[in-house]
Amino acid sequence: MRPIAAADLLLRPFHILDQEWALLVGGTEKPNPMTVSWGGLGTLWNRPVVTVYVRPTRFTFGLLNEHPEFTLNVMPPASRGALDLCGSTSGRDTDKWAEAGLVPEASQMVTVPRVAGAALALECRTLATLDLDPGRFLDCSIESQYPRKDYHRAFIGQVMAAFVSEEFNAGDEAR
Ligand SMILES: Cc1cc2nc3c(=O)[nH]c(=O)nc-3n(C[C@H](O)[C@H](O)[C@H](O)COP(=O)(O)O)c2cc1C
Repeated sequence: MRPIAAADLLLRPFHILDQEWALLVGGTEKPNPMTVSWGGLGTLWNRPVVTVYVRPTRFTFGLLNEHPEFTLNVMPPASRGALDLCGSTSGRDTDKWAEAGLVPEASQMVTVPRVAGAALALECRTLATLDLDPGRFLDCSIESQYPRKDYHRAFIGQVMAAFVSEEFNAGDEAR
């Protein structure tokens, strides 16, 4: 992995989470990887931020509330099986690292680990949380996403450090 400034990352913002998915890791004593595909990368309060949306029913939800840091890890294509597993089983009753053949790796700027072998790893400090309020949904079809009324909480994290694998085309070499 090599460090890269967040501002130098050239990514496809509507592809990376939606199509490639990512592993969101929360927790320090017993960190847990969870697959996410909803979220965004951008700028808020003049800082580079990652926003992830987590339902209160996820084990990861409690971990993110207990400790204000997380990592977001985009994995290489060969890890699709691990992403499937981390998106369909819960850390409440499974050691997903072992089950998915994943290895935690110490982060540099936060105490939550990254995922070894990630193509892109973002180390984040949670700056704020926001609860989605169904009363503010302007398109009523959104409500169909919530048959159990488990509306997402947004966790907005400042990117404290970013790392890319040697294989990952972050675009910065091209300039
Ligand atoms: C492709 C994919 C994307 C997902 N994206 C999200 C997401 O953005 N937010 C969320 O709360 N759950 C999402 N999930 C569901 C969680 O990954 C899943 O419920 C997981 O088992 C929760 O793990 P945990 O209980 O260990 O936290 C996604 C699942 C898949 C397969």
